[in-house]
Amino acid sequence: MSTIIREVHAMQEASRAERQAGRRIAVVPTMGALHEGHLSLVRLARTHAERVITTIFVNPTQFAPGEDLERYPRPFERDVERATTAGTDFIFAPPVEELYPAGFATSVAVEGLTRVLEGAARPTHFRGVTTIVAKLFLCTLPDVAVFGQKDGQQVAVIRRMAADLNFPVRIVVGPTVREADGLAMSSRNVYLSARERSEAPVLYRALRQAEEAILNREKNAVAIVELMKRLIGENSSGLIDYCSLADAGTLVEQEQLKPGSMVMLSLAVRFGSTRLIDNIVVEVPKPNS
Ligand code: PAJ
Repeated sequence: MSTIIREVHAMQEASRAERQAGRRIAVVPTMGALHEGHLSLVRLARTHAERVITTIFVNPTQFAPGEDLERYPRPFERDVERATTAGTDFIFAPPVEELYPAGFATSVAVEGLTRVLEGAARPTHFRGVTTIVAKLFLCTLPDVAVFGQKDGQQVAVIRRMAADLNFPVRIVVGPTVREADGLAMSSRNVYLSARERSEAPVLYRALRQAEEAILNREKNAVAIVELMKRLIGENSSGLIDYCSLADAGTLVEQEQLKPGSMVMLSLAVRFGSTRLIDNIVVEVPKPNS
């Protein structure tokens, strides 16, 4: 079994001891309810370091009032087992008061990148994410931190934060793990009704069709976004929050695609009260490739 640590001070002590012994540390930040997507990141972390810390903390500051903070699943014992089997050495799972004691007043905010896409729909979300990730870096003192492409904008925002604040932490990104029918694994998939679950794979189909259009040299980004919207509208009861074709680094929405550039196709769709997100990154083909 991995060692469960609940106090910041104890986590920092354990990390310092590992570092002094010359071992590299990788951290995998999570909110628990671990599925294959999270576990793939733990396995990836193992290939980068001798010690893996998985953090399990449902971070209240990244949820807006009315979002699913209270009902977010918390199967802690099962998580410990799964994380351990996948190769975790330490589980850092502090109570809320340990990370946000009375009087807490500091936050970390990335400008620009956080205004679009998820940030437009959830204006306080990324401030919560960057604040907790910065804190988790300082609690676990890692050499490497592993995140999933599933949350594509989160990756871009955390890379920006780590660079801007000179965190001595290498950011590593693992691919999105999907169900057999293409639906990206998510702790929120359990909220879907049977009908919604059967419609939800259209999100990935829409992303793949848009990718195909790009690879077939369609350069009109607006037309590609329309294609995704039409496919989802015609094949599901989901309500589209956004469909986007943006530069993968800056997240600036594209109109005409530039050959050789990396773009991110992304979307958010509501099924009832459940909001699903997904994305893929595509390289726009060069003229003679
Ligand atoms: P959570 O949603 O628990 O996700 C933890 C990590 O797992 C994130 O890096 C996320 O991108 C990754 N992940 C989730 N589903 C995945 C999938 N299907 N395939 C691959 N990776 C997947 O993201 C968060 O928590 C929080 O915002 C956090 C970074 C922990 C800060 O609170």
